[in-house]
Amino acid sequence: MSAHEIPADHPVLAPRPGATHRLHLTASGVSVVLDVTDGRAPTIAHWGAAPGELGEAGLDAVCESAVDVVPQNAVDVPVRIGIIPQQSDGWIGRPGLSGSRPDGSGWNPRLITESIALGGTPITAAHIESGAATVRFVLTDALLGLALRLEVELLPSGLLRMRTTLTNTAKTPYSLAELTLTVPVPADAEELLDFAGRWAKERTPQRSAFTVGTHLRENRRGRTGPDSAHVLHAGRPGLGFRHGEAWAVHTAFSGNHRHLAEQINTGRRILGGGELLLPGELHLAPGAEYAGPWLYASYGEGLDAVASRFHRHLRSRPQHVDTRRPVTLNVWEAVYFDHDLDRLKDLAERAAALGVERFVLDDGWFGSRRDDTSGLGDWVVSDDVWPDGLGPLIDHVRGLGMEFGLWFEPEMVNEDSDVARAHPEWIMASSPERMPLESRHQQVLNLSVPAAFAHVRDQMMAILDRYEIGYLKWDHNRDLLEASTSQTGRAAVHEQTLAAYALMDELKAAHPGLEIESCSSGGARVDLEVLEHTDRVWVSDCIDPLDRQQMNRWTSQLIPLELMGSHIASGRSHTTGRLHTLAFRGLSALFGHLGIEWDLARATAAELEELREWIALYKERRELMFTGELVRVDRGSSPLWMYGVVAPDQAEALFALAAVGRSSESQHERLRFPGLDPRARYLLRPLLIGERPTGLALPPWWQRAAAEGGLALPGAVLTTSGLAAPLIDPEQGVLFSLTRLPDPAA
Ligand code: DGJ
Repeated sequence: MSAHEIPADHPVLAPRPGATHRLHLTASGVSVVLDVTDGRAPTIAHWGAAPGELGEAGLDAVCESAVDVVPQNAVDVPVRIGIIPQQSDGWIGRPGLSGSRPDGSGWNPRLITESIALGGTPITAAHIESGAATVRFVLTDALLGLALRLEVELLPSGLLRMRTTLTNTAKTPYSLAELTLTVPVPADAEELLDFAGRWAKERTPQRSAFTVGTHLRENRRGRTGPDSAHVLHAGRPGLGFRHGEAWAVHTAFSGNHRHLAEQINTGRRILGGGELLLPGELHLAPGAEYAGPWLYASYGEGLDAVASRFHRHLRSRPQHVDTRRPVTLNVWEAVYFDHDLDRLKDLAERAAALGVERFVLDDGWFGSRRDDTSGLGDWVVSDDVWPDGLGPLIDHVRGLGMEFGLWFEPEMVNEDSDVARAHPEWIMASSPERMPLESRHQQVLNLSVPAAFAHVRDQMMAILDRYEIGYLKWDHNRDLLEASTSQTGRAAVHEQTLAAYALMDELKAAHPGLEIESCSSGGARVDLEVLEHTDRVWVSDCIDPLDRQQMNRWTSQLIPLELMGSHIASGRSHTTGRLHTLAFRGLSALFGHLGIEWDLARATAAELEELREWIALYKERRELMFTGELVRVDRGSSPLWMYGVVAPDQAEALFALAAVGRSSESQHERLRFPGLDPRARYLLRPLLIGERPTGLALPPWWQRAAAEGGLALPGAVLTTSGLAAPLIDPEQGVLFSLTRLPDPAA
């Protein structure tokens, strides 16, 4: 008998005829059918459009249809693709669970289902139908000495999510290499859409054909990354915002992780994801456990429907932010490291006069941090630049009626810092003598070392205890290269990621109401797990409105507008050098959590007046934007992008038309406003704020609307036939406000 202890009565190898359970969960138009046949590991027999109640015969048919018809020259039984795919079920693609014992054994699991519970109650019935619910499976492989708890949850939004906890039940250590969860997608989901990008150009979409092989998006940056797959979709060819079925996954983890789409030669297709573990990183001692991240899976007709499930889920959480997201001024692009009390007080006064509600002091307030080469990690207010502490600025800001926010980068140090000098052993490195390459002159502080964690926590707590601070901008400005615990040489990205979450939680627990922004060289830490510990993401260091049109559009594939930091910066972009009108900057920033990132002392009186108007409009519409449904309009290759937000009851909407380029045709596709009620009547009002867009030539309906203070139109005209588009120059935009008119028959 192996060292892994097979209980005498345990059904190790043979399927257990009769131990067949089929569960059908349905929520918000999505169905998930889970199948456990003969006690084998669970498979998803259907995930997609809800067919209605199935009944026993229907449920059996769905499950029987999800397995392969046995071809010649293949295994002699129908192949099942488990949620954790395994060779023991006949799957010849990438296995879901990989690992081994020190002697090389134990690499080929044959997990079987020990028990199933629905909403906490163990089930024995063969057929079950339910609404949104959590199903918990216990899977074991007694020969290999592994036990696994698998949680599959269909949320009320129709979003599916799954996670596992693996326990080493044997008497020898188990080295876990990979634990990937998967969902099946149909064979005609022939197109893939996911994201790439770089610093200041995050979340650029990329499409490819879904062909035989693996589309593997591995991340070894130790942070979510500017190039993260973000949401990996498989869909019908030509998949658009409002058309084409799509199946999508998101791995909710801010450390190393993977997303994958795999097709094997039989045509079977899966999407999957999980944490990416470095060699030796997850070494499970006897009895030890590993808990993997959530894999989220969203299905819908079109990309908007996929995004909407993520948004609805996030909005349903008890800790979700309120809709009065405060207009924020972040001082980074205004002053950079040039901290001067009088200048910052003046900036605060100018901000408050415009209606700004939160003032954030960025990098440079602590230690010897006068530029990015030193002082990082010393979270003590600098006597040089702040001889009287931060009190005078904070009092001033709060006296002006604004909340105060402060920048930290808790996971990082400059080698030239007090903390790094005192504790070089806290720096993540293969050994104290072999430091990783510096990046932005900094190294990573190992928060998995308890003393390092306590040091950072205590310094941060001291600042939070001393001052009235409602908001932290939590930055993370480098990839984790060779990120080991230096004393052992063992990879520690997994522990580091969990420690960062734990630190966020501790600070929040000690300071109720504290909000945290997830920033990472701009938008390199945007994922659903970091959002369990934080309250907004900084989309990008690039505030150029033309690039932000793209980045905000695609960041919102996962994140609702209220969680996306969206600022108006100076006329010439600091990252691209391009010049834009304030009208285009304002319009592009409006659909998000609005802020300013601009030295207001350099703004003209006319610019300040216009800025005030943008802020007022944001305040007037934030309730709509942060509760409504995001709509992105399919307009082929037209450079006139259109998007908006429609209130849940369809009574109100705000749309933007943004010219992101020039067209080779002089006329544009008509304007349609999807999401409105086609049976209602709406008052449509074009809104122009600030400088009139250049090149604007108006169609007749607009001229009538301008003359009459709005145009009453049937919803069907707006949603279906559409209105002639104006002509407009590139990098210009307009807004449309829509209000449902009372039904005269009512
Ligand atoms: C990167 C961030 O994205 C910026 O907004 C700014 O906070 C700098 N770091 C400060 O070093």
